[in-house]
Amino acid sequence: MGTLTEAKRGRLITFEGIDGSGKTTQIQLLHQWLEAEGYDVLLLREPGGTPIGEQIRDILLSVNNTDMSAVTELLLFEAARAQLVKEVIAPALDEGRIVICDRFMDSTVAYQGYGRGLDPDLVDRLNLLAVGDILPDLTIWLDAPDDALFRRISRRKDGADRLDREKESFRQRTIQGFLKQCEAYPERIRRIDTSGSKEETAKLIEKLVRRTLP
Ligand code: TYD
Repeated sequence: MGTLTEAKRGRLITFEGIDGSGKTTQIQLLHQWLEAEGYDVLLLREPGGTPIGEQIRDILLSVNNTDMSAVTELLLFEAARAQLVKEVIAPALDEGRIVICDRFMDSTVAYQGYGRGLDPDLVDRLNLLAVGDILPDLTIWLDAPDDALFRRISRRKDGADRLDREKESFRQRTIQGFLKQCEAYPERIRRIDTSGSKEETAKLIEKLVRRTLP
């Protein structure tokens, strides 16, 4: 056990944020920067990243599965994660690689915990069951500026049907979830305000990542 910790190795950097927070763009920019700096980088996304995980992803995201229960959803996300950690992330870290993961355990807290209203302690325990001792070294939470968010909400309010409204309140709860996680783990989870240009945001991220690198 001791040698494993000492041998550590690579770094796990995770990106979090609501849909449309610009994760994909920022992950690409960080990837390019790290490779230019000479690091060996592995890019992953959740759910997915393994043959089993991609099959689970299909079940989770299929529009046909409208009657999936919240608990089923939680367990499927954790199942995909457990497989990804064991099959891909842990070995990559042992090899000294920098692993960047598009979403990880904090998404489950935000979406299944805060969004769907599942017991937060249960979500925490299942997260730990799935990841074991592989916790992110750094989590970057991309947070959209409030004013843009409010503009979007007020524009949508009038014409929104029941589902749209439900979606909007769901979205608000997930943002709350990320905020609470960030407050609970201030060392690990760093909020990045995405109100600047994408280049400015990338610079902020580089600064944080630089401190985490081996
Ligand atoms: P995806 O198309 O990858 O969206 P994004 O580009 O926003 O990451 O779909 C992933 C969806 O799954 C996204 O809406 C967030 C959700 N999700 C959860 O609800 N719980 C989780 O634990 C994870 C990892 C994702």
